[in-house]
Amino acid sequence: MWLTKDEATYPHYVETLDSLQRPLKDLRLSVIDKCNFRCPYCMPKDVFTKDYPFLKHSQLMSFDEMLKLARGFVALGAEKIRITGGEPLLRKNIEHLIESLARLTTQSGKRVSISMTTNGTLLASKAQALKDAGLERVTVSLDSLDNDIFMKMNDVGVPVSVVLKGIEAAQRVGLSPVKVNTVVQKGMNDSQIMPIVNHFRHSGVTVRFIEYMDVGGANYWSDSGVMTSDLVRARIEQEHRLVAVAQQRASDTAHCYRYVDGAGEVGFISSVSEPFCGDCTRARVSADGKLFMCLFATESLDLRPWLGEDAAPEVLAETIRSAWRKRGDHYSELRDERYKDPAKKVYPTVRMSLVGG
Ligand code: GTP
Ligand code: 5AD
Ligand code: SF4
Ligand code: SF4
Repeated sequence: MWLTKDEATYPHYVETLDSLQRPLKDLRLSVIDKCNFRCPYCMPKDVFTKDYPFLKHSQLMSFDEMLKLARGFVALGAEKIRITGGEPLLRKNIEHLIESLARLTTQSGKRVSISMTTNGTLLASKAQALKDAGLERVTVSLDSLDNDIFMKMNDVGVPVSVVLKGIEAAQRVGLSPVKVNTVVQKGMNDSQIMPIVNHFRHSGVTVRFIEYMDVGGANYWSDSGVMTSDLVRARIEQEHRLVAVAQQRASDTAHCYRYVDGAGEVGFISSVSEPFCGDCTRARVSADGKLFMCLFATESLDLRPWLGEDAAPEVLAETIRSAWRKRGDHYSELRDERYKDPAKKVYPTVRMSLVGG
């Protein structure tokens, strides 16, 4: 059912470079814009009320459309597809989509890597089905082990034990390597750095500490809330010796370190103190089929017209290709300039819950 008539009709495309010579290597595909959390840095409760105009079911791409879209990106060079949200596990039957995406291969014949970023609340019940469908690995967002801080940060009263059970289930079924993403906000959860480090050492889970960014809820952001990766690492090194590990791909978001005592790895995503736009190979598509060239983009291109049953796949690929060629986004490298000018401080970026981080 999922391998439709446009299978294998693409010509071989030469590598598609954007205007800053960056190839297209990753697709971050959002499958839903809703979430069951209200993390204040992403979906503050006063904005994301029950009357908030979330996408209606009819506006969401169908799985057939998503598969067609994914094929277009893979034909142009994408090797990794990350399923995001909102909270992707809220999308009904998501394992059906994964089953079809997991069959995609790159032009050199390798399997396309399929991963997911989730808040972990539904993972305990879905981990096995996701694994069976062909999901390779998951990344779980977890900002605190202290239950009071955790509940304050999700703002809906979900206890941390639910997410920890989700992480354990993911490990048990082999969705590995399981990664944990921790956004560090000074004064909010910086007390949680060492508890999180020590909880996941020796567990096989890689924790990545993320600098708090001015995305989505830009009105709430202030650089005084950012704890830089250097500081987080220094804190960890007071207790554990670390050595840097070479990046697997230049475009990786995280710089990883190995615990010298063999307890595993820990990573740092430093988009504020050390922007990585120069190697950014990521395209993002929202659940309603809009292509965003940057996490901080203010504009998008609607791909939906090229996803219908009668639309020729080559036209979709050409549309993405010509948009990618024009891409010149490098927002994180411009952040300091922007913040020097009070008039530019509030910047209307796409909301994080629409393009999945
Ligand atoms: P891996 O394939 O496991 O390396 O995943 P990833 O790091 O690409 O994806 P993940 O969803 O785990 O991203 C981690 C976090 O890094 C996101 O939640 C964002 O906070 C940040 N991030 C990811 N991609 C970008 C990017 O292109 N630009 C910026 N500024 N931040 C990003
Ligand atoms: N800064 C950094 N990371 C963020 N995320 C959401 N909002 C922010 C922000 N302002 C991360 C979450 C999750 C992913 C979906 O995006 O922690 O890992
Ligand atoms: Fe929090 Fe992720 Fe949901 Fe945003 S999408 S509210 S960061 S759990
Ligand atoms: Fe890529 Fe934009 Fe993030 Fe820079 S700010 S790394 S261009 S998504």
